Amino acid sequence: MIRRLFLPALVTAFTGAAPAVSGPAASPHPAPGAADPGMPRFTADGALLRPDGVERWVLVGASLGLGYSNATDRGVGMFHRVYLEPSAYEHFLRTGGFRSGTMLALSIRHPLRRVPPSRAGWSEGDLAAIELAVKDPERFRGGWAYFDFGRDGRAARAEPGERCARCHAEHAARDNVFLQFYPQLRAR
Ligand code: HEC
Repeated sequence: MIRRLFLPALVTAFTGAAPAVSGPAASPHPAPGAADPGMPRFTADGALLRPDGVERWVLVGASLGLGYSNATDRGVGMFHRVYLEPSAYEHFLRTGGFRSGTMLALSIRHPLRRVPPSRAGWSEGDLAAIELAVKDPERFRGGWAYFDFGRDGRAARAEPGERCARCHAEHAARDNVFLQFYPQLRAR
């Protein structure tokens, strides 16, 4: 990714020049102006762009049928997986905290049963929605904002506080994040 982003800059720098034997050393950081894939990206009018490949981030939690709006148990419920963006995960392991720019994703999938050869139990089916939590105390009052991309949305606006942030602020174990559901973060 970094290499690919860096290449056009190198090509431009060397256009018309003698064979490229010297030049700027490849930087471990994205080229100036290139977006850091570990940080959230917003449109000019403040909507969050859906990050690529959240299901390749670090899996920190999984649950089935977790419900928090009412106490009725109707059916098996949905599969939830929670992912933490890798550079924010490294930061958390080092410090025990979530840095500004941290992104967590919640993927919600429908349950499937009797996928051959299984005769009992449930497995994960199609994606229902991707939701994101983003920390940026300079941008968001309360430090965090919450976004719902549905299944296919490419950009999403921050949800009103009473729909998402309030429950996180009141009930999550640490800094708005539901660590009580994420064993590998709890174990740090
Ligand atoms: C009534 C409480 C409640 C409300 C309201 C709520 N959440 Fe959550 N949220 C949870 C719980 C509990 C978890 C723990 C993991 C799970 O659900 O699998 C969670 C986890 C998450 C995560 C994973 C990272 C984290 O913070 O732990 C995201 C992202 C998320 N919710 C987004 C949202 C969005 C977007 C909304 C509003 C549309 C919302 N939540 C509303 C309770 C709530």
